[in-house]
Amino acid sequence: MPAYIVIGAQWGDEGKGKIVDVLAEKMDLVLRFQGGANAGHTVLHGNTKYVTHLVPSGVISGCALNIIGNGCVVCPFTLLEEMQILEKQGVCITPANFVISEAAHMVLPVHKYLDKRLNERIGTTVRGIGPAYTDKISRSGIRWETVVKGTFEAAYHEHLDYVEKVFAVVDKDEMDRLRASLPQLLETLEKLQPFVQDARPQLAEAIRENKKILFEGAQGTFLDIDHGTYPFVTSSSTSIGGAFTGSGVFLDFDKRIGIVKSYTTRVGEGPFPTELLDANGEKLRKNGNEYGATTGRPRRCGWLDLALLKRSCLINGFNYLVFSKISCLSGLGTLKVAIDYDAAGKPVYTELPGWDEDIEGCRDFNALPENCRNYIKFVEDFLQVPIGLVSTGPDREHVILRKTLFTS
Ligand code: IMO
Ligand code: MG
Repeated sequence: MPAYIVIGAQWGDEGKGKIVDVLAEKMDLVLRFQGGANAGHTVLHGNTKYVTHLVPSGVISGCALNIIGNGCVVCPFTLLEEMQILEKQGVCITPANFVISEAAHMVLPVHKYLDKRLNERIGTTVRGIGPAYTDKISRSGIRWETVVKGTFEAAYHEHLDYVEKVFAVVDKDEMDRLRASLPQLLETLEKLQPFVQDARPQLAEAIRENKKILFEGAQGTFLDIDHGTYPFVTSSSTSIGGAFTGSGVFLDFDKRIGIVKSYTTRVGEGPFPTELLDANGEKLRKNGNEYGATTGRPRRCGWLDLALLKRSCLINGFNYLVFSKISCLSGLGTLKVAIDYDAAGKPVYTELPGWDEDIEGCRDFNALPENCRNYIKFVEDFLQVPIGLVSTGPDREHVILRKTLFTS
């Protein structure tokens, strides 16, 4: 049964959007299983740039059914705004091709407020993700099903009473503002209500009918709440385990695709052993245009960390890797790659010769400079997982396909 999952192998921003877009075109169903609008997936079709945060990328290529799974947290305002922007760009979104799981949780204005006030040390995207998942886990969150059942308004009051009891940082003025956001919320939810459904029967039917299914991961493995660099992580299960709890079905994924950027980036705070604070770091940021799609923050840049990626392969069982943004390494001189850490936790590097040629858009592996081919082969040999696809530029045509991606 053709089932695919795409997962970021590092700290997010690996270029998942592009590969998901290429795959989604061939799919019957695309599902997001975790995260929320902290994700920022950029897709380029010719000169048109689409950015999705919540809506599964399949809507852009016209995939039959796109589901926001129960493992996601969704802000009504952000979602409606994103849908309106996409619709202006000519993307068709109806309840027939887009479903929000009833069991997904809501991100509410209070969550964004708390994220801003409480989570600065993590350097979050301030999208309310952590506080929304906190409420989910503490069994005080609001599910999207309340919109269909007509219980949202009562749930909203009850939730704010709970918030008032728990958090001293919410003063009276803020409480009044939060209570006053109800009419705007109700108006927005009315527009979104047709999209709220129990997504599991549709998913079960797609599996029964042997449909092509793609699970679209957001963030990256080392932002995972359990397996990431805690506490500098996001609040969801970004690795493969999240796919099962975040959808309500088991799928024996034919292709477990890890997206690996050919260097490393990270946004926000937290450990980053191969970080470059010198001219090379600057060069990578410039070459790779490493600024956040969600927050616009400059991303921290560094050498490829294969010791970290080895763990990522273990966690996710990748059987196919996509190596992205290789063209951004041109002109950096000798390239370093971390293969281990020493007793003090410092990376142990191996050096590989670089290349100067501009390879953006290259579509033939043999046309790449020899040193570039060797860099790719070194990574593949080290990780013992085939690099099936090399991405050489932002456009969906800018790829080198080395192994078959589609099994049928
Ligand atoms: P995509 O899907 C990169 C980071 C934030 C912060 C930490 C926690 O585009 O790869 P959160 O708002 O989730 O509570 O922030 O996680 N972060 C991301 N970094 N890409 C992302 O998503 C990210 N989503 C969250 O910068 O360090
Ligand atoms: Mg991002």
